[in-house]
Amino acid sequence: MRFAGRRVLVAGGGSIGPGMGNGKAAALAYAREGASVLVVDRVLAAAEETVALIAAEGGAAEAHAADLTDAEAAADAVAAAGARLDVLHFNVGTSVRGGVAETAPEDWARVMDVNLTAAYLTARAAIPVMRAQGGGAMVFISSVAAVRAGPYAYAAYEASKAALGRMAQSIAAAEAAHGIRANVIVPGVIDTPHVTTVVAPDADPVELARARAALVPLGRQGSPWDVAQAATFLASDDAAYITGALLPVDGGLTL
Ligand SMILES: NC(=O)c1ccc[n+]([C@@H]2O[C@H](COP(=O)([O-])OP(=O)(O)OC[C@H]3O[C@@H](n4cnc5c(N)ncnc54)[C@H](O)[C@@H]3O)[C@@H](O)[C@H]2O)c1
Repeated sequence: MRFAGRRVLVAGGGSIGPGMGNGKAAALAYAREGASVLVVDRVLAAAEETVALIAAEGGAAEAHAADLTDAEAAADAVAAAGARLDVLHFNVGTSVRGGVAETAPEDWARVMDVNLTAAYLTARAAIPVMRAQGGGAMVFISSVAAVRAGPYAYAAYEASKAALGRMAQSIAAAEAAHGIRANVIVPGVIDTPHVTTVVAPDADPVELARARAALVPLGRQGSPWDVAQAATFLASDDAAYITGALLPVDGGLTL
């Protein structure tokens, strides 16, 4: 019960499709360890579904709808958490396939807005709350795409996730004196509805899963729970001396 009495905001805590996503699993994992969780998502129904899963297990959570690419909405979402905010877990993300030459300016801007600017706006709103209470922890969900090429080009996604990692390290350095830690999870190929819905909607799901697992030295795709367990560790006092870290959760993919 590492989060008993703690307030956690999971940004992008819904799921884009049926099944278990990274944000949904993280929200459940924090709640299972005693947190009161504010599940924020652009899609209210998606946040409410996560809240219902937490409530069914006897946990505490509320849903809040916000498009976190909007500064006012991001500030309102943080305010909705209440007087305390112990953990900001930022899971929001989207992607568009294509190299620089194939990426339309509006797609580039949208990916940057969702993956990077929304993280900046949400963290910007959370920092004063955490400073005032004497500390807090942030966890940002990046991707191996931030550090290496994958099977297909993904220029906007790769650039936005790399910048997200550096922004988190900037927060870690600037806010350490206020007791605020910021860390980054770098997931590899994780088996979530995001993959079949956004990344490769036209692929045969069985063949896609086999091909993704074949990339991984440990021989399987990651599960959203692998990401969630790493996040709860980094956000907890067990990681009290860890800040600015980029933690691969990738089964050895980047070795
Ligand atoms: N699945 C993988 O293989 C993999 C690998 C590496 C990294 N990731 C990262 O994991 C995260 C996705 O995990 P997931 O499975 O929970 O995905 P998901 O798409 O199911 O969940 C993301 C949630 O964010 C919400 N969202 C999108 N834009 C938003 C906005 N502007 N404001 C508020 N909410 C918004 C969506 O509605 C959705 O419910 C992303 O950051 C992604 O880049 C995934």
